[in-house]
This record gives sequence, C-alpha cells and structure tokens, in this order.
Amino acid sequence: MAVQDLWVLFLVLGLLMFRAQVLQSQNLTCSQNDLKALQDFVRGLKLPIEGWGDTNSSSHDCCNWLGITCNSSSSLGLVNDSVDSGRVTKLELPNRRLNGELLESIGSLDQLRTLNLSHNFLKNSLPFSLFHFPKLEFLDLNSNDFSGSIPPSINLPSIIFLDISSNYLNGSLPTHICQNSSRIQALGLAVNYFSGTLSPGLGSCTTLEHLCLGMNDLTGGISEDIFQLQKLKLLGLQDNKLSGNLSAGISKLRSLERLDISSNGFSGTIPDVFHSLSKFKFFLGHSNDFVGTIPHSLANSPSLNLLNLRNNSLGGIIDLNCSALTNLSSLDLASNNFSGPVPVNLPSCKNLKNINLARNKFTGQIPESFRDFQGLSFLSFSNCSISNLSSALQILQQCKNLTTLVLTLNFHGEALPDNPVLHFENLKVLVMANCKLTGSMPQWLAGSSKLQLVDLSWNRLTGPIPSWFGGFVNLFYLDLSNNSFTGEIPKSLTGLPSLINRSISIEDPFTGFPIFPVKESNDNILTGRIWPEFGNLKKLHVFELSYNRLSGPIPSELSGMTSLETLYLSHNNLSGTIPWSLVNLSFLSKFSVAYNQLHGKIPTGSQFMTFPNSSFEGNHLCGDHGAPPLPKIRSTFLLTLMIMIVLRANSRGEVDPEWVDAGADDKELEEFGSGLVVLLQNKECYKDLSLENLLKKLAIKRLSGDCGQMDREFHAEVEALSRAQHPNLMKKENRESEVFDPFIYDKQNDKELHRVFEIACLCLSEYPKLRPSTEQLVSWLDNIDTNTNT
Ligand SMILES: *[C@@H]1O[C@H](CO)[C@@H](O)[C@H](O)[C@H]1NC(C)=O
Ligand SMILES: *[C@@H]1O[C@H](CO)[C@@H](O)[C@H](O)[C@H]1NC(C)=O
Ligand SMILES: *[C@@H]1O[C@H](CO)[C@@H](O)[C@H](O)[C@H]1NC(C)=O
Ligand SMILES: *[C@@H]1O[C@H](CO)[C@@H](O)[C@H](O)[C@H]1NC(C)=O
Ligand SMILES: *[C@@H]1O[C@H](CO)[C@@H](O)[C@H](O)[C@H]1NC(C)=O
Ligand SMILES: *[C@@H]1O[C@H](CO)[C@@H](O)[C@H](O)[C@H]1NC(C)=O
Ligand SMILES: *[C@@H]1O[C@H](CO)[C@@H](O)[C@H](O)[C@H]1NC(C)=O
Ligand SMILES: *[C@@H]1O[C@H](CO)[C@@H](O)[C@H](O)[C@H]1NC(C)=O
Ligand SMILES: *[C@@H]1O[C@H](CO)[C@@H](O)[C@H](O)[C@H]1NC(C)=O
Ligand SMILES: *[C@@H]1O[C@H](CO)[C@@H](O)[C@H](O)[C@H]1NC(C)=O
Ligand SMILES: *[C@@H]1O[C@H](CO)[C@@H](O)[C@H](O)[C@H]1NC(C)=O
Ligand SMILES: *[C@@H]1O[C@H](CO)[C@@H](O)[C@H](O)[C@H]1NC(C)=O
Repeated sequence: MAVQDLWVLFLVLGLLMFRAQVLQSQNLTCSQNDLKALQDFVRGLKLPIEGWGDTNSSSHDCCNWLGITCNSSSSLGLVNDSVDSGRVTKLELPNRRLNGELLESIGSLDQLRTLNLSHNFLKNSLPFSLFHFPKLEFLDLNSNDFSGSIPPSINLPSIIFLDISSNYLNGSLPTHICQNSSRIQALGLAVNYFSGTLSPGLGSCTTLEHLCLGMNDLTGGISEDIFQLQKLKLLGLQDNKLSGNLSAGISKLRSLERLDISSNGFSGTIPDVFHSLSKFKFFLGHSNDFVGTIPHSLANSPSLNLLNLRNNSLGGIIDLNCSALTNLSSLDLASNNFSGPVPVNLPSCKNLKNINLARNKFTGQIPESFRDFQGLSFLSFSNCSISNLSSALQILQQCKNLTTLVLTLNFHGEALPDNPVLHFENLKVLVMANCKLTGSMPQWLAGSSKLQLVDLSWNRLTGPIPSWFGGFVNLFYLDLSNNSFTGEIPKSLTGLPSLINRSISIEDPFTGFPIFPVKESNDNILTGRIWPEFGNLKKLHVFELSYNRLSGPIPSELSGMTSLETLYLSHNNLSGTIPWSLVNLSFLSKFSVAYNQLHGKIPTGSQFMTFPNSSFEGNHLCGDHGAPPLPKIRSTFLLTLMIMIVLRANSRGEVDPEWVDAGADDKELEEFGSGLVVLLQNKECYKDLSLENLLKKLAIKRLSGDCGQMDREFHAEVEALSRAQHPNLMKKENRESEVFDPFIYDKQNDKELHRVFEIACLCLSEYPKLRPSTEQLVSWLDNIDTNTNT
C-alpha cells in the first residue's frame, strides 16, 4: 500500500535529516535576493502566511520568518556577496493550509537545501525551476493538489530525497531523473496519475534505496534495469495495472527488504529466486493472478516476516518449512485454491502470530498440533470446509494469546458446544457467522471478558440472549441476527459502558470500529418492554426494534439518546402516547412508530413536522400526521423481526492496534485482511455543508474483510450510503483509509464543529486519492478533544 511506503519514506527521511547538517539562523539580515523571492512566493498564494507579517516591507528580515532557516553567505562560501547576509537554506511550511500555486520565482532561492511544502493545497503545475535547484537536497511536496506532468528536463544534482506523492500529476514517469540527479536515495511518486509503462531509465539511480510508485496507472511489466539497483530496499508498485510474469531479475536486488506488487495483474508462477535475497522481509503480492504454489525459496526464507499472497490462484498443499521460516510473523494465503489438510506444522514457525487461510479448500479439522501454538494471536479459517467445532474450540483454547478467531462458514449444522471447561480469556474478536450452529448461547463465552466484537449471526441458536453480554465492558459490535433467540432484550445491554460514554477511546483511541448492531430476525421473537434505560445510550445513532412483539409504552427517557438519528419502533404492540420529549432528539431524521397501539396527539415541532404520514399510520393517533389508520393484516410469513442498534460511539479507531501490534512493526496488517471504505466529497464542500450532510458522509471502515457476515452488511451499508449522494465513494480495497467519527458532533460545541468541518474538508478531496493518513486524522481529532476539555 502506498501509505505504508510513504511511512517508510518518512522514516528514511528522518535518518537522512539526522545525517544532514543542522543549519541555524543567527542574527542575519536576509539577502535582498531571497527576500524578493519569498515575497514572490507569497504572491502565488491566496492568503498571506501567518507569522510572516507584512511581507511587502523591505525592512523585513525574512530569516526570522516562520519556517525559514538562513545561513550566512560567508559560511556558504559565497565570496561574491559584498555584505555578509542571510541566505535562505530551508523553507519549511508543511501543514499550513497554503492555497495557491508555486511560481517560477521560487527558483531564485538558489541556496535552498530543504523545501518542504507538504500537506497543503498548492495546485496547478510544478514550476520548471523546481527541478533545477543546484543545492536542493530534500524536496517534499507530498499531499498537495499539483497537476500536470513533470517537466522533461530535471537537474537536481544535490537531491537526496524527493517526494511528490499524493498529487494529481500525470503523464509519464520521470525515469530519466537520475541522469543529472545522481545522489537520490528516496523517490516518492506514489498516489498520482502517472501512466504508461515503467520504461527503462531508473536503473541509473544507483544510490536509490526507496522507490515508491504505487497507486498510479502504470501498465506493462517492470523494466529490467530496475533490477540493477543494488541498494534498493523498498520497491512499491502496488495498485497499478502492471502485468506479465514476475521477472527472475528480482533475485538481483540483493538489498531488497520489501516488495509490494499487490493489486496488479501479474500472472504466471512466482519465480523461485528469493534465496539470494538475504534481507527480504515483506512480500505483498495479493490480488494478482499468480498460479502454482509458494516457491521453495520463499517457503524456506529465514528473513521473511510477512507473506501476503491473498486473492491469487495458488494451489496445492501449503508446504512451509518452519525450521527455516524463523522470522515469519504473518501469513495471509486467503482466497486461493490451497487444498489438503490444514498444515499441521504451522505451530513450529516460531514467530508466527497471524494466520489468514480463509476461503481455501481444506479438509478435516483444526490439527491437534495447534494446542502448542502459544504465539498465535489472529486466526481466520473462514469458508474452509472445516468440521468438528467441539474439537476446534478445545484445541484453540490452549492458545493463550489468541485474540481474534474467525471461523465463519464452517462446521455446518454442528452444535455450539457448551463444554464448561472452555475458556478464551484473551479473546477480543469472535466471528462464527453462517455456520448453522445449533444450541443456545454457551455459558463459557461469559468468561471471555475482553470481547469487543461478537458475530454469531446466521446460525440456529435458540433460547434467551443472556444478560451477561452486559458484562463485556469493551463490546462495541454484537451481531446475533438470523438466529432463533427468544425472550426479552437483556436490560444489561443498556448499561454497556462502551455505548454510553467514551470509555473505550479514553483507554485506547484505536479500540475498534464503533458500530454496535444487535440484530434479530426470522424466528426471533422479542417480547417485553423497551427499557427506559436505553435512554442512557447517548452515543447511539440508530435504534431499531421493528417487527417484534414489544409492548408497553415508548419510554420518554429515550430522549436521552441524544445522538439518535434513526428510531424505528414500528410493528410492535406498543401502547400509550408518543412522548413529547422525543422532539428534543434534534438529530433525528428517520422515525417510525407505525402499526402499534399508540393513541393521542402526534408531537409537533422540530423534526416531527418532516416525518411522513406513513411513520404514524396503523395507530390511533391524531394531529397533523394523523392519517387514518389503514386496516392491515400481515401474513405471518412476511414477519421479519429485527432489532438493530447501531452505535457510532466514541472511538475513532480502525484496525484494532492489537492486531497491528501482533504483527511485525510495519503496517502490514492493514494488508492483512482489512476491508475498508471511505466516503469522499469535494474538498470545497464545507462552505455549504450542513451538519446533517456531514454526518451522512461519515467515512466508514470495517475491521476485517474476512468476516463473511460483516462484509455482507458492510456492502449493504456502503451501497445505501453511496446511493445517498456520494459521488466519490472510495474504492473499497487497498486504499488508504481514515475514519470520521461523529463523536464530536455535539451541537453545543460550535467551535469544535467548525474544526471538524475543516478537517473533513482537508480530508475529502475531489479525487479519491488524496487524503491524510489515519494517524494524522486521529491526532487532529484528539487535539479537538483536548481543546474542548481545556
Ligand atoms: C549552516 O550553518 C550551520 C551552523 O549554523 C553549519 O553547521 C552548516 O554547515 C551551514 N550549512 C551550510 C550548507 O553551509
Ligand atoms: C541577536 O539579536 C538579539 C535581539 O534581536 C540580541 O539579543 C542577541 O544578542 C543577538 N545575537 C547575536 C549573536 O548577535
Ligand atoms: C504588497 O504589494 C503588492 C504589489 O507589489 C500589493 O498588491 C499589495 O497590496 C501589497 N500588500 C500590502 C499588505 O501592502
Ligand atoms: C563571482 O563573480 C564573478 C564575476 O561576476 C564570477 O566570475 C565568479 O564566478 C563569481 N564567483 C562565485 C563563487 O560565484
Ligand atoms: C516535511 O514536513 C513534514 C511535516 O512536518 C515532515 O513529516 C516531513 O518529514 C518533512 N519533510 C522533509 C523533507 O523535511
Ligand atoms: C540535465 O541538466 C541539463 C542542464 O540543466 C538539462 O539541459 C538536461 O535536460 C538535463 N537532463 C535531463 C535528462 O533532465
Ligand atoms: C494531465 O492532466 C491535465 C489536467 O490536469 C490534462 O489537461 C492533461 O490532458 C493530462 N495529460 C495526460 C497525459 O493525461
Ligand atoms: C509466464 O509464466 C508461465 C507459467 O509460469 C509460463 O508458462 C510462461 O512461459 C511465462 N511467460 C513468459 C513470457 O516468461
Ligand atoms: C482479487 O484480485 C482481483 C484481481 O486479481 C481483483 O480484481 C479483486 O478486486 C480482488 N478481490 C479482493 C476481494 O481483493
Ligand atoms: C530475524 O529477526 C531478527 C529480529 O528482528 C533479526 O535480528 C534477524 O536478523 C532476522 N533474521 C534474518 C535471517 O533476517
Ligand atoms: C528446512 O529448513 C531447514 C533449516 O533451514 C533445512 O535444514 C532443511 O533442509 C529444510 N527442509 C527442506 C525440506 O527443505
Ligand atoms: C503472548 O502475549 C504476551 C503479551 O502480548 C507476550 O508478552 C508474549 O510474548 C506472547 N507469547 C508468545 C508465546 O508469543
């Protein structure tokens, strides 16, 4: 993923910067030449730069301006400067929301070593002079709106680091760059619209260590001269349209540590040439058309840390040599045609923590050997034709470090064991959807007190929903839909801390995606009343109890669910009146109490005026909406019973960091089975964006692409959202992600709100490619939080 590569770039940059000499501004008056160049620079911008004051004044000393570093002309060896003046050697204004264009006159800053204008809104073409700085070493323009192509002539003899990722640049790649710029170590061109083939030229960049070309529109194969780059550590080509066989030339990249060719059209077998790559750690090759099996040299690599070949057409038996694979930490071979038994030897891969083997064609059971899999943290075997759940659970409970267990679409029709000795103390995620399991909710599950996400939907479970679900203090997602549960909604669910306040995010801002649906349907018949305590769920956004047999009044306390947008209580036996307190639910935009036994007057005011008559029909109500009740007899087979509580509470997390921690330090777990979606709008949006609209545009990310049921709902949700006016729906797969969370959308805090709008608009670009990283977003949102408290 390009984002990952960019982070690597940042790290490299850090090192390079450390090596570079620190320039300090003394009490120098800046040279007239540089003052004029900076004044011209400001003229290209729409707004003045904060901290630069009146840039017109010639008495100004630009060496003291924000983001400017000067060296004396004498120290720079500029003997011709008559007076010793300050020469601008660094111009660093990242993240300043600069809007406008970069003019040719920037080239007059001829002593510049560092130019950092990353994360701004600079647009139009890159000036010719930008590529002809004699002394420039670090050029960082990543995440702007630059467009057009790169000038054909480049002469940056001192350049070490060049990053123009995440812009709208097009045309062909500047493969000739190293003819004049021979010192370059890191080249970042990812997340642009470069097209054409990866033609020869880059092979002359002999000092190159990091080459990031991911997320462009490149076609054809990898030009062979790239394999001459003896110092290359990272090669990122993901998310292009590259095709053909992967060349055996890869074997010549002796320094290679990370190869990302995922989401291209590479085909044929993976060449068995990795034995010579003694530093090779990360191989991301998912979503190509590779056939054959895992080559021997990969299956025996002592340096390999992550192997992700998900979504290819590999087959045969998984034959890994765990005596050799001593550093393997994450293995993702999901969505291939591997067959035979589940590999028995995996536990002898000493460092293996994360395994995704979903959607293959295994036979048999979870092997006994997995009892000794002490390091195992993440295990997914969805849709793998595995049987004997009872044995699987007995074996896996011995894996004390297991936090995520995904077993959807296996064990068809078996009973969910209620063996009281079962105990999964560290389990956080349990997904066993669509297994047609029978039995009732087992008591042993109550012991998994760290559960955050439970999906047991599409089974045949019966009996009550136990009240001990209320004891899972970190639970934020519960899906029990399409089972046959009966009885009351446990009142304990109304006390779940994660649904009431921000306890999760206070403890850990990354804890999971804040959605909490409880779904019941088909044969489920929930009876009893709606607990007034549901009013405690201040962070609840959707509350849906339609098609049940709930009775009693609608509690006026529901007005305490102050974030509520959707309230569906239709098709129950609710009686009494509609509480007037509900008019205080100022975010409410969808509402129905149709087909109950309600009487009295429909509340007036605020949103209630906007709800259609159909929201109230089938009652004995009067008032503006008191449409005459239609006699309606529903045939029982039409009855769909559903409870849905969706909570978009507090945490603005994405992938649980535990999952990430479990792997190697890199961000490979983002690759590791994550399915994500981001909804985007035009960056100019916020001028006329209402709060409601913004709420509708919340970016959404799901935890894992591997939880069958979640995926299905997820798609439905995304479709629904996309139909609702989202032209720039983000491509689901393999793009960078961010999460917007409504937790701050609190009407009392206008200032916060505006900041959120700003952030939203910084993130929502008219092109789906340009947005800040999740890390940045989280930190921005965190800052808002802090500011509010102070
Ligand atoms: C700039 O000045 C600093 C001392 O303030 C010095 O260490 C550095 O070498 C100078 N840079 C150049 C490029 O001469
Ligand atoms: C730099 O200027 C400040 C005031 O502008 C002064 O206090 C300081 O002594 C000066 N330093 C040098 C090294 O001239
Ligand atoms: C600076 O000078 C330009 C023309 O050189 C002028 O248009 C602009 O208004 C001046 N700005 C200020 C703040 O004086
Ligand atoms: C100084 O100026 C002279 C004449 O303008 C020029 O020939 C020479 O190359 C310059 N030297 C430097 C170091 O710029
Ligand atoms: C540019 O600034 C950003 C934000 O401070 C920083 O992360 C990046 O490393 C800088 N790049 C260079 C070349 O200094
Ligand atoms: C190398 O630099 C020279 C002088 O600036 C320029 O004319 C030429 O086009 C450059 N070559 C390439 C391949 O950019
Ligand atoms: C590059 O983008 C510009 C608009 O920014 C467009 O006019 C031009 O045709 C594009 N060129 C190519 C080669 O796609
Ligand atoms: C590509 O790989 C396939 C199978 O691995 C092989 O049959 C074919 O000859 C290869 N094509 C080329 C051009 O090397
Ligand atoms: C799987 O890979 C194919 C290309 O081989 C791609 O089109 C598809 O979107 C990928 N699917 C997933 C779920 O990654
Ligand atoms: C395995 O990982 C350890 C720790 O990161 C590292 O020191 C060692 O060099 C690695 N082994 C190989 C063969 O790369
Ligand atoms: C497995 O790896 C070990 C250690 O590198 C090696 O000695 C052994 O020959 C390998 N086995 C196979 C079948 O390649
Ligand atoms: C199990 O997890 C703990 C805490 O995360 C860790 O310290 C320990 O090393 C892990 N055990 C194994 C065998 O990986």
